[in-house]
Amino acid sequence: MTLSDKYKSIVFFTGAGMSAESGVPTYRGRGGIWSQYNWEEYACQEAFDRDPQKVLKFHELRRQSVLACQPHSGHHVIAELEKTHPQVRVVTQNIDGMHQRAGNRNVTELHGSLWRVGCRSHGIVEDMGETFKSCKCDQCGSWLRPDIVWFGDMLNQDVISEANLIVRRCDLFISIGTSGVVWPAAGFPRIAKESGAYCIEINPEPNEMSSLYDEAIRENAGRALPALFEINK
Ligand code: OAD
Repeated sequence: MTLSDKYKSIVFFTGAGMSAESGVPTYRGRGGIWSQYNWEEYACQEAFDRDPQKVLKFHELRRQSVLACQPHSGHHVIAELEKTHPQVRVVTQNIDGMHQRAGNRNVTELHGSLWRVGCRSHGIVEDMGETFKSCKCDQCGSWLRPDIVWFGDMLNQDVISEANLIVRRCDLFISIGTSGVVWPAAGFPRIAKESGAYCIEINPEPNEMSSLYDEAIRENAGRALPALFEINK
C-alpha cells in the first residue's frame, strides 16, 4: 500500500528547497538570495517607496531567472497526485509559480506571487512574462507593487485562514525544503501535528523544527517524492 492509498487528505507544504533542483536559488545558506541581495534594498515597502524602479527591476530579474527553470520530477509527482486524489493540496511559501506550471491547481500561496502586481486602490492583476506589462496602474498612475509578502508586511489574513483550515483537516502533512524560520508559515507543521496528521519532512538538512516530524527523509525533493509515492515522472 502506498502513502496515497493510506491517506486521503494530503498537504504538501513547500519552501524554496522544493524549487532548488529546478535551478531557482533558495533564500538562505550559500548562494541564497539573501546572501547576494540586501532585502532592505529590494524586498520591503520602504525600499519600494524609495526607489520603485530599482525594486521592480530586481523582481523582473527574478521572473526571468524563474522562467529559465522548469519544474522537476518532484513537482510532477505532486501534480500527478492532485489528478488522482481530489484532496491533495499545496500550501507554499514559494512565489515562483512552479507548482502551477507543473499542473497543480489547488495551491495556496502564503507569500504571494511573482506573477501578480497590485495597486492599493485598484486591486491585484495577473501579470505573466519576463517583464512587467505595465509598471503603473492604468486607472490612477501609481506604481504597481509586486503582490509579494515582503519583510515587515502582514500576510493576507484570508490566505492564512484558508491555509489553517487545509492544514487542520489533513491526515498526511509533507514538508519539503523549508528552513522553518519564517513565521507564521513555520507554525504550520505544529498545527498539522496537533491536529493528528502524520508528518514527514523532506530536506537534506535538519533544522530546529525537525524533531516535530514523525519521519524525516534526508534527501533532495526530486529524488524523495518519486520514491515515496512510487511515481516516476
Ligand atoms: P530557505 O532558503 O530558508 O530554506 C531552504 C531549505 O531548503 C533549507 O532548509 C535547505 O536545507 C532545503 N533544501 C535545499 N535544497 C533542497 C532540495 N533539493 N530538496 C529539499 N530541500 C532542499 O527557504 P524557505 O524556508 O522557503 O519569504 O524560506 C522561507 C521564506 O523566507 C521565503 O518564502 C521567503 C524568504 O524570505 C518571502 O519572500 C516572503
